[in-house]
Amino acid sequence: MGAVLAVVSQKGGVGKTTTAVNLAAAFARRGMKTLLIDVDPQGSVRYGAGLARGHETAGFADYLNGEKTLREIILPTALPWLRVILAGSVADEADHAVYSQLVRETNVLHDLLTMAEQRCQVVVVDTPPGLGPITRKVLGQTEHVIVPLQCEPLALQTTSQILKGIRAAVAKHDSLRLEGIVLTLYEEDSAICRKIAERVREQLPPELVDEAWERFRAALEPLRAAGRVGAVFFQFPRWFLPSSRSLSYVEQVQERMHGFQIAVEFRKIEWLDARHLDGTLAFLRSRDIPYVAVDTPQGHDSSMPPLHEVTSSKLAVVRFHGRNHETWDLRNAPPNVRFRYDYPDADLQEWVPRIKEMERSAKEVHAIMNNNYSNYSVKNSNRLDELLAAWQK
Ligand SMILES: Nc1ncnc2c1ncn2[C@@H]1O[C@H](COP(=O)(O)OP(=O)(O)OP(=O)(O)O)[C@@H](O)[C@H]1O
Ligand SMILES: [Mg+2]
Repeated sequence: MGAVLAVVSQKGGVGKTTTAVNLAAAFARRGMKTLLIDVDPQGSVRYGAGLARGHETAGFADYLNGEKTLREIILPTALPWLRVILAGSVADEADHAVYSQLVRETNVLHDLLTMAEQRCQVVVVDTPPGLGPITRKVLGQTEHVIVPLQCEPLALQTTSQILKGIRAAVAKHDSLRLEGIVLTLYEEDSAICRKIAERVREQLPPELVDEAWERFRAALEPLRAAGRVGAVFFQFPRWFLPSSRSLSYVEQVQERMHGFQIAVEFRKIEWLDARHLDGTLAFLRSRDIPYVAVDTPQGHDSSMPPLHEVTSSKLAVVRFHGRNHETWDLRNAPPNVRFRYDYPDADLQEWVPRIKEMERSAKEVHAIMNNNYSNYSVKNSNRLDELLAAWQK
């Protein structure tokens, strides 16, 4: 039996279709037998599903009114594991009315989803905007719901209402689960996007947050079972500022990661300025959380000084991110561009006495190369090893 997943939102134009099409394609690419069904009479899936030129345009509506057979409306796509059922012919208002009525009053949709679930591993359903009768009917037969939420200014006001509506709809069906919220048209550099993301996180149903943590831990489990996890780093972005809220978040992280060694890395110099330094270190010490010392280029907004304080007797960490001034601030650049830096001996040498000092207060010190271009990290870590071995006080 496969899983049925519906993409749903009260709002129009938030990226439901885009999310549905991309999710379906992603499942298919992993070799899962996937069926994408468009039950929105607008029929937008047709334009994104990678169908052959001149393909059949009949779909669900034509099956619903008995004009086509199931075999005729299941269309192949460019991906071998992806099949699509388009919305079909719902041209004018009269068609709409008939379509809605047939969805509501017959078992055709129910039977179609039952059949699809039996024959496919994943069934993704794109729904019309709103929680109207068509969407409600889909939800009655779905196990998973995903809600795209567009990061636009109005979302600050409307998010709680939207989540409330979805939760109410989900609560009506025992087997239905809200799988997550997809922030669409999200731009990391936009303050408004970040604010919306924050607001959404605050309002996420607690069971969703628990589930996300559980999955994160489960993903790490094989590594831990094999004894390959040194520590799990939580590297916070430059907009994670010192505040009691941030501290309680770090506490929550430690609690959620119970059983794993964690370490925290900051990207905002305020954590270490005259006002906050003592508090930052005292906080980490009191919870036995290693502060991740970093080597970064200096003078940028997210630069950090090479502070090498040990805040846990169990573990101290230093991470080498390279000192590439030109690429450090490049957004969306791949890591092998941003951290492209071949450490000369002089840079590494600066860390030798620091690491030796760290070794005095921590049982273990991990030095980690993040300058992941070509063989630089391997080469530089071998060199650091040699310099440490040769070190004489
Ligand atoms: N991540 C993205 N980046 C840029 N544009 C996007 C992204 N996601 C969606 N869009 C664009 O936003 C518009 C609305 O997307 P889409 O049609 O998927 O929304 P929808 O919620 O299905 O709309 P409707 O409610 O009308 O069914 C489209 O023009 C789409 O190409
Ligand atoms: Mg759509």
